[in-house]
Parts: sequence; C-alpha cells; structure tokens
Amino acid sequence: MSNKIISHISVIMDGNGRWANQRNMPRAFGHKEGINAINKIVSACSLRQISQLSLFAFSSENWNRPEYEVQFLLKLFEDSIAKYIDDLHSNNVRIKFIGNLELFSSKLLKNISQAENMTRDNTGLKLNFAMNYGGKWDIVNAINSMLNDIDFASKNKKISEVDFEKYLSLQGDSPDLLIRTAGEQRLSNFMLWQHAYSELYFTDCLWPDFNEKELDAAIGYYQKRTRRFGSLKTSNRIVKKYVK
Ligand code: IPE
Ligand code: IPE
Ligand code: MG
Repeated sequence: MSNKIISHISVIMDGNGRWANQRNMPRAFGHKEGINAINKIVSACSLRQISQLSLFAFSSENWNRPEYEVQFLLKLFEDSIAKYIDDLHSNNVRIKFIGNLELFSSKLLKNISQAENMTRDNTGLKLNFAMNYGGKWDIVNAINSMLNDIDFASKNKKISEVDFEKYLSLQGDSPDLLIRTAGEQRLSNFMLWQHAYSELYFTDCLWPDFNEKELDAAIGYYQKRTRRFGSLKTSNRIVKKYVK
C-alpha cells in the first residue's frame, strides 16, 4: 500500500435491514449488529491513525420509517452511547454529534452531551456521528445561523466559501474518502457540501459485515486514485487562479 495521506473517512452505514432479512430476523437485529461493526471500524481507524471518522447513523429522512423502527434506533443509540463511552474515552477518541438534535428525547440528549463533554479534550480519532442529519438541513441551518449572527451581518455584505463553512455543523477537513456499504450508489443527503471533492467507494458488503479487511480494501482503492482537484495529474491540492 502506498502512503497517500488519508485524514478523514466518512461512511454511509447501509444494509442493516437486508442483513437481518437474509437471516430471517427482524430488522432490529441488523441494527444491533451494526453497532458491533461501528466498534470494529472505530478501533481500526484509530490504529491506522486516521484523524477523523464521520458516520451517518440516522438521516433526517429516516423519520419516515415505521414508528417502532425509529423508536428502536433512538433507544439503541441512547443505550450504545452509555455502554461504549468509557471505552471510547480511554482510547482517546473525541466524539461529536452533528445534525438537528432538538427532536431527541432528554435522555438521549443527556447521553450525547455527556459523551461530548467527557471526550472534549481527547487528542485521538475525531469521531462524528450524524444523527437526524441531512445535508440540505446543514446548509439551510448555516444560512439561518449567519442571518442571526448580527456581528457577521453588520460587517459583511457578501459571504465567502470560507465564511460559510464556519457555520456548517462540521468544520475543518472534508472527507477524503466516502464509503457506502450495501450496494446503493447515492449520497442520501449526507454532507452535501463537505463531499464536494471526496473520493467515493461503494461496496456490496452489508454494514454489519463490514470489518478491518473491508476498510483496508476501501483505503487501497483510495490510494490508487489521483486527486486532481481540477488541475492536471498532481495529487496535491493546488489552489491557483486562472490566468489568461
Ligand atoms: C442503515 O441500514 C441503518 C439506518 C439507515 C439507520 P438500513 O436500515 O437502511 O438497512 P437496509 O438498507 O434497509 O438494508
Ligand atoms: C442512509 O441510508 C442513511 C443512513 C445510513 C443513516 P438509507 O437506507 O436511509 O438511505 P436510502 O433510503 O437508501 O437512500
Ligand atoms: Mg438503507
């Protein structure tokens, strides 16, 4: 494997339901097994010194599922945060939740803020969970935040990309590589702005089966790509103005 830097990986963790169906089990069984896959991938990313991992856990559209599945998922998140937070903290992982969290129960919100506060100063893997997250929501939310930022509005007549990014739910480096499991080849409204120049990797592997080997296959794919960012041949990001 070459050493092309991969700093930020994002994952659309799809296929839990199909994984359970294949075993004649209820979909909930697949969601539970999906948590084990998250644990494996978090450890593997830490070990491989990936700086940031962003996981799509619940989309703003997932509320359209049957009520019992939505409630099961929310309870599973609540319980899993409580169950794994100490381990994550001792592994120096810094946890952040992105999305419209307002609609969550007070118990889930409490676990979310505990996890964020406890791990705030950790210096290892930055682990972002997108929950009740939609890329369109993120962009509109950023615009609303800007409108409400009197200080910004009083000083600026125009918005630059750099200014705008400061109001998105996730700042800093965009994902280098987006992995989507379970065969679908779409973004499903995940980090629309941040994935503008990510490399995209799709695998038929269902999320509960995703493991270190699958991760390495995705990283191997990434390392063979030439990232041009609109320029020619080079794999380095070059920001140059067009000159006549
Ligand atoms: C992904 O698996 C988990 C969530 C969206 C919460 P799915 O539940 O979408 O599984 P499939 O796509 O139906 O197999
Ligand atoms: C995307 O998966 C959302 C998450 C993985 C959390 P979905 O299964 O909800 O997406 P669609 O319906 O196939 O687009
Ligand atoms: Mg799905």
